[in-house]
Amino acid sequence: MPVRILLSIGIMFGFCCSAAASGKAILGRGVNLGNALEAPQEGEWGMKVKPAYLALIAEAGFDSIRLPVRWSAHADEDSPYTISPAFFQRVDEAIQQAFEHELTVVLDLHHYDGLMEDPAPHRERFLALWAQVAEHYRASPPSLLFELLNEPNKNLDAETWNDLLMAAIRQIRVTNPERTLVVGPANWNAIKGLDSLTLPEDDRRIIVTFHYYLPFKFTHQGAGWVGPHTKEWVGTQWNGTADERLAIEADFDRAASWARKHRRPLYLGEFGVYEPADMDSRARWTEFVRRAAEERGMAWAYWEFGAGFGIYDRNGESWRTPLLRALLPAGKKDSE
Ligand code: BGC
Repeated sequence: MPVRILLSIGIMFGFCCSAAASGKAILGRGVNLGNALEAPQEGEWGMKVKPAYLALIAEAGFDSIRLPVRWSAHADEDSPYTISPAFFQRVDEAIQQAFEHELTVVLDLHHYDGLMEDPAPHRERFLALWAQVAEHYRASPPSLLFELLNEPNKNLDAETWNDLLMAAIRQIRVTNPERTLVVGPANWNAIKGLDSLTLPEDDRRIIVTFHYYLPFKFTHQGAGWVGPHTKEWVGTQWNGTADERLAIEADFDRAASWARKHRRPLYLGEFGVYEPADMDSRARWTEFVRRAAEERGMAWAYWEFGAGFGIYDRNGESWRTPLLRALLPAGKKDSE
């Protein structure tokens, strides 16, 4: 489908999600700058945000980045939970570099592990982090979006998360009444979590996000952080058989029908395949999922730029072309 048609569908129904929400910022096609600012310290996982990467991302034709940030590792443990000014400065720099290339930025609060393990004692600190981040960026342009929390899971169940997200939104709205917010459901932002998500009905500047990694045995083969058993999954292919395609179509139909019912734009904020999978399968799946999202008017961000799922080989300083083309088939022109 030509991009112009996609964009106008999107304005009605999510592809230009923030256009639907704020009329300005556009998410469109994006990539996660993962493994950098959400590592315990930037660089610890090998990846740093660099001006050259943002230039490459924009030049390739992406519209936006999602920027995962581990705020919880850079704030005091005790009230008032002050975020380190040096870390704020570093995040400012990364956002500024993205803006220089006219990339929309989804600023995502990532890896607050303590909150997932034990929500009650971390509630006040989570809200204090958002109060500070919201205050700090209150004058930023609408092309900065706030994503409340990556993949709520474990003891942060649907009920606890719904209650916490309401409190966080109320707080952010004090300083950022018009900011577009991104919120996903409990249960790791999975599609099946959408039915349990509740949002403030009268706040229409909210984009709903979900993540897609199915079949998990394929996308997470050899993923050590999931568990040693994932070694046994190595060699799993995705050939795009009728059954494989139908399973993905059905999942995306379910998400799209939720969005229609609740009149919310959708953002596929993460999808990707870990590097042990064969490149043909990775590219096939990536293209199929990307299309499934676009055909239903959803914006998306691939997980991720330059690490284990990466579309860019940092050592070789080159794009992994089959993956890049699966995302942006016609390169820059396609997104204009
Ligand atoms: C996590 C990453 C992980 C990716 C795929 C992200 O939300 O933060 O650590 O690699 O999902 O599992």
